[in-house]
Amino acid sequence: MTSYTREDWQRGYESQPNEYDYWIDDIEGEIPEDLNGTFFRNGPGLLNINGQPIAHPFDGDGMVCAISFKNRRAHFRNRFVKTEGYVAEKAAGKIVYRGVFGTQKPGGWLANIFDLKNKNIANTGILYWGDKLLALWEGGQPHSLNPQNLETIGIDDVDGILQPGQTFSAHPRIEKGKDGKGDVLVNFSVKPGLSSTITIFEFNSQGKLLKRYSHYIPGFAFLHDMAITPNYCIFFQNPISLNPLPFLLGLRGIGQCLDFSPNKSTQVILIPRDGSKALKILETKPCFVFHHCNAWEKNGEIYVDSICYKSFSQIDLGDDFREVDFDSIPEGQLWRFKINLSENNVEHKLLESRCCEFPTLNPNNVGEAYRYLFIGVADKPSGNAPLQGILKIDWQTGEHQVFSVAPRGFTGEPLFVPFPNGVNEDDGWLLMLMYDGAKHRSDVVILDARDLNKKPVGILHLKHHIPYGLHGSFTPNFFG
Ligand code: CO
Repeated sequence: MTSYTREDWQRGYESQPNEYDYWIDDIEGEIPEDLNGTFFRNGPGLLNINGQPIAHPFDGDGMVCAISFKNRRAHFRNRFVKTEGYVAEKAAGKIVYRGVFGTQKPGGWLANIFDLKNKNIANTGILYWGDKLLALWEGGQPHSLNPQNLETIGIDDVDGILQPGQTFSAHPRIEKGKDGKGDVLVNFSVKPGLSSTITIFEFNSQGKLLKRYSHYIPGFAFLHDMAITPNYCIFFQNPISLNPLPFLLGLRGIGQCLDFSPNKSTQVILIPRDGSKALKILETKPCFVFHHCNAWEKNGEIYVDSICYKSFSQIDLGDDFREVDFDSIPEGQLWRFKINLSENNVEHKLLESRCCEFPTLNPNNVGEAYRYLFIGVADKPSGNAPLQGILKIDWQTGEHQVFSVAPRGFTGEPLFVPFPNGVNEDDGWLLMLMYDGAKHRSDVVILDARDLNKKPVGILHLKHHIPYGLHGSFTPNFFG
């Protein structure tokens, strides 16, 4: 028995081609008086181009949602990022670009051979920083949007910092300014190859570059996320190798040419934030990591909490991702790594075996020891399955709380928004988009992060569904 039906789950991957703009009037519960600002979220909006299915949701055109809260009301807006590829395919009425994760142009390998032009689909993250709203995709430059109406301004070089085509990760980390210091945004760019270059950028709260430093690391690097502490940027280099031949020959997407080597270790890369060249690379057990929860330093050791998979599951040619056999691919599980820099070793332990993904925490604790983790989880405590709940873990007491929307609801990433005058670490709300399979529409759910056993503070019913998405962010600025 599963906690969901495949039909419900699949319909959450239907395209949403429409763009909406309205005040949400169908509300259960309430919108808290002091919840003011804008919740942005990015994710694939189109899962087919004029009826022709794309190979993987990661290839779907980016669509940004903005839910703006003010005076106990909420406004909804969604817009596609008008990338060069989106505009061209809309005009052509068919797939014109190859996708990283296997979407091919019609016409078989002859139409795709030696076409190395991938589409910048701007579908992974969304960041409001220094008065700019940026739709992020790790394979290229960000797209700048007008935060007031989400209209696309264009490819952005982040104040002249990025060279044409240079990548800018979809996983920036924000270090909260303490003791009178301002917030700092830390992001990275990867240039993969036989050896890879990682460039780190640090920006002040006005969006001005504070620091930039680059390091070469041996081997091909597939780096989606990083963790930060006051002194280090931390990457996990997965034991992945790239054989680009099938991509060059037009047989596969570049993302389908990655091979996981279960006998090779995962490398932990520590880059000092003072710009010195003292890069350190240590080894740990083989695992595949997309996302880190948090990292912190304590007594000369560095701790990193990460979601690990036993292997990287190939997206095979001709497979329909909607028919995936969840039992045949590994689930994400939560591990803690302890890095000892004087002895150059890494210890690891399993913290939570339940299938989980999309961690969040109080943004004031990024890079520091933290007490509470919030993360999307499957409904059942074991086995791989779609995310249907949110788990809160209290590391101090060991208490676990699960908010579940099974059997017909599906969750994704929760986002922690601190109360304006919060005192305790869990004084805040969790915001998320939930897909309701019973009504084929989505809800904005507001939870009280202090107690997930309580019913939601508010459930805001949208008039339509939003396909399962990726990452979001929150700004206290209202853009309605
Ligand atoms: Co991600």
